[in-house]
This record gives sequence, structure tokens and C-alpha cells, in this order.
Amino acid sequence: MSHDAPDAVDAAPNLDFAGTTPYEDYVQADVLTHLQHPLSDDPGEMVFLVTTQVMELWFTVIVHEWETAAGALREDDLPVALAALKRSTYELESLNASWKPLAHLTPAQFNAYRSALGEGSGFQSAMYRRLEFLLGEKSASMLVPHRGAPRVYAELEKALQEPSLYDEVLRLLARRGLAVPAAVLDRDLSQKYEPSAEIEEVWAAVYGAGDQDTELLRLAEALTDVGELVWRWRNDHLVATRRAMGSKVGTGGSAGVAWLEKRARKNVFPELWTARSHV
Ligand code: HEM
Repeated sequence: MSHDAPDAVDAAPNLDFAGTTPYEDYVQADVLTHLQHPLSDDPGEMVFLVTTQVMELWFTVIVHEWETAAGALREDDLPVALAALKRSTYELESLNASWKPLAHLTPAQFNAYRSALGEGSGFQSAMYRRLEFLLGEKSASMLVPHRGAPRVYAELEKALQEPSLYDEVLRLLARRGLAVPAAVLDRDLSQKYEPSAEIEEVWAAVYGAGDQDTELLRLAEALTDVGELVWRWRNDHLVATRRAMGSKVGTGGSAGVAWLEKRARKNVFPELWTARSHV
């Protein structure tokens, strides 16, 4: 054992820094923990606000992973794409776990701060919209609420015009010799992706291949995991909303639960689900 071992064990952390701590410089915890400005006096509002902020941060990380995956697919780098998709599934699990504090609000508890939210709604989340755009759920009208925020608007507009994660997947499948129709490859990227029978056949071929340990199958399953977890987020949101406000209209002006039910019914990467009936 070395002579300096006891010292090393007893050594206390440094206390002395010329300016702010290196931790603060990196994490900006002082900024992050002073961004909470509740709009009511209700003590229950803080967790609603922080959960929303936490989810915004997870959306940001997940968008980063999917943009990484899309870029890697474009360069035929499947290992990097698969690693990013895998990380995103763990992040989606954490995102979904953050519903816990809001999953059992009673209408009275929610009402205690609901009116203070005014017309504010998660529907106006630009980062969530980028996430939906990456999945192929494009819509130019979703940019309209962000006209007053130039940076946000520019980021969203770029995301609207760019190939989605799913577009990059389909382009890669075409480069690998699978029968992806030209109409899909040349589609107007700013439009919502519409499921096609030919792509369903492509996935059925990937799933039906003799070799069950191919890169493409791993890609298909990673995307299926992502799709399932996004679907779970939408459904957890739906159930939390149903518990907190029944069938009242939303603060964002929609029909509320009925509108969310329609959104939650959509399959993410639709042909990955329907192809299973044909394998
Ligand atoms: C229990 C609390 C919540 C309730 C009652 C609720 C309610 C609603 C309702 C009614 C809508 C439909 C649009 C509208 O008319 O407002 C909506 C949309 C949305 N909410 Fe929530 N929400 C809750 C919590 C959250 C949280 C914590 C987030 C996290 C950011 C969130 C994110 C969203 C998003 C992204 C949409 C748009 C979904 C889409 O475009 O498909 N919500 N919410």
C-alpha cells in the first residue's frame, strides 16, 4: 500500500474557487433553478411547472439523439445511428416516468392553478413539435404559434423542410436495395408522412428474412421501441388529462381529451406496426 493512501482517502473536496464553481460553469444550476415562476399561490403548481420543464429538457435530449441518428443514417453509419436510438429509448423511459407526479391530479387540485395558466398549453411546445416532425408528423400550420419567437420559428422551419428520421431510414433501405418507391423517396418533406403499402412490404421483407440478426432488423426493432415509447407518452398524457379535467376544453382551445384521443391513436412509423400482420 502506498504511503499517501490515507491522505488520499481523507482528502476533502476543494472549497476555494476564484469565481463561480466549475460545476456551476458547466451545469448553470443557478440559472436552471431560478427559472421557476409559478403563476398562482397554490403549492401544487410548482411540481406542475417543474415537470413541464423537465419534460422540455428530455424533449431536447431526444431531439438531439434523433438528429444524430438521422445524420448517421444519411452517412450509412448504422452503429452510430443505433447507439443514438438506443440512448433515446432510455431517455424516453425517463421522460415517461416523469408523469408520476402529475398522473393522479384530481380536478380540484388541477383547478387550483389551472385558470392561472390562461391560454398556455403544452400544444405550444416547440421542442415537442420538432420531436413530432422528426417522426414524420410534419405540419406547416404548427409553425404559426411561434411567429413571435424568431429563433424558435427558424429552428422549426428548418426541421419542417429537412428529412425526418423516418425519411432517412427509408432512404437507407433504398440504398440497401429494398423496393422503396420513388414517390416515397421524392416526397414533399414538409408534408406529413403518409403510410404506404409498398413500405409495409419492405418491412415485412426485413422481418421475414431468414437471418434474424441483421443490422436492418436491429434498426427496425430500435424504431419500434421508439414508436412504442412515444405512444406511451401520448397515452400517459391522455390519462393524466382525463383524470385532471374530464372532458372540459383545453387551455390551448382544443376539445381537450377528445382531441388528445385522436392524436394518441396515431401509430409512430406506421408500417412497422402493420407489416407484422404479413410476416
Ligand atoms: C395533468 C396535466 C396536463 C393536462 C390536464 C394537459 C392537458 C392538455 C390538453 C387538453 C391538450 C390539448 C391542447 C389544448 O387544448 O390545450 C394538451 C396538449 C399537449 N400537452 Fe398537455 N396537459 C398536461 C400536462 C402536460 C405536460 C406536463 C406536458 C409536458 C410538456 C404537456 C405537453 C403537451 C403537449 C406537447 C401537447 C400537444 C400534443 C400534440 O400536439 O399532440 N402536457 N395537454
